[in-house]
Amino acid sequence: MTDTTISADAELLLQTRGLSVHYGGVTANADIDITVGAGEIVGLIGPNGAGKTTFVDAVTGFAKSSGEVLVSGQRIDRASPHRRRRVGMARTWQAGELFADLTVEQNLAVAVQRVGLRALVTDVLNGSRPAAGVVEKALDVVGLTDVADRRPDELTLGQQKLVGVARALVGDTRLVLLDEPAAGLDTHESLAFGDELRRIAATGVGILLIDHDMSLVLDVCDRLYVLDFGRVIASGTPTEIQDDPAVVAAYLGSAEVEADTHAESANEAGTPPTTESSTTGTDAGDTGGESR
Ligand SMILES: Nc1ncnc2c1ncn2[C@@H]1O[C@H](COP(=O)(O)OP(=O)(O)O)[C@@H](O)[C@H]1O
Ligand SMILES: [Mg+2]
Repeated sequence: MTDTTISADAELLLQTRGLSVHYGGVTANADIDITVGAGEIVGLIGPNGAGKTTFVDAVTGFAKSSGEVLVSGQRIDRASPHRRRRVGMARTWQAGELFADLTVEQNLAVAVQRVGLRALVTDVLNGSRPAAGVVEKALDVVGLTDVADRRPDELTLGQQKLVGVARALVGDTRLVLLDEPAAGLDTHESLAFGDELRRIAATGVGILLIDHDMSLVLDVCDRLYVLDFGRVIASGTPTEIQDDPAVVAAYLGSAEVEADTHAESANEAGTPPTTESSTTGTDAGDTGGESR
């Protein structure tokens, strides 16, 4: 296995050391060491059930874990999800829908409230970022300023997916963990979405990208980690990963599973935002989990 880390000059945003999660007898994450640098897009791929969502849950504080999680060199593995959000780390949720009745701007404003009113009041008192500017900035980064007043159903699916990303970028987000943010997009939309992710990363944001679309991840990621049964079985550049026998083996015969997952994701994308408050399972959709 190739052990690739970020280049020496990139600022280290996320580092996990020996991160493990156990669900009863199931080891969902085993000793995971991952890094994400500023401006990097790092892929996390693996077959269905490999532990990708669990990893995001563990890093963001929604799953009980052992091992270390550092954001910008600071240990946060004992902190609440809310406090982890405040160090500039945000996530999206698999099947995280938008509020259909709210405009794009309002969908982001909801996320502002969840960043923490106290933090924003402090910002205002300090004369730094006024709350209103926070939403505009996030819209600008993903290129959605022109559709700020539209409702989600007036947008293309690709734009809707970007609203989901923008919601995570609201506030001083430096690091985003995206759990299948492109699910349901066709190849063309997926490539356009990838271009937007590149633009976001170019602003210095570090991105951990989970996706089943191999052409997207291989195209857009600087580096990738491959999970299988909770373990990192390979890491490296897209070229290195493609040729790795362990990766090929993990994916061999999983074509059917992949197809099923795509169908599932497409269905999830079409479900109403009532799942926002769902508490069933780790994949339940709620963008602003830090309020829980
Ligand atoms: N809340 C949970 N309770 C018990 N087992 C879970 C829970 N969440 C995930 N698992 C199990 O952990 C493993 C990894 O799941 P998950 O992280 O969702 O995989 P992926 O996102 O890669 O598809 C699976 O075996 C899954 O059944
Ligand atoms: Mg998952």
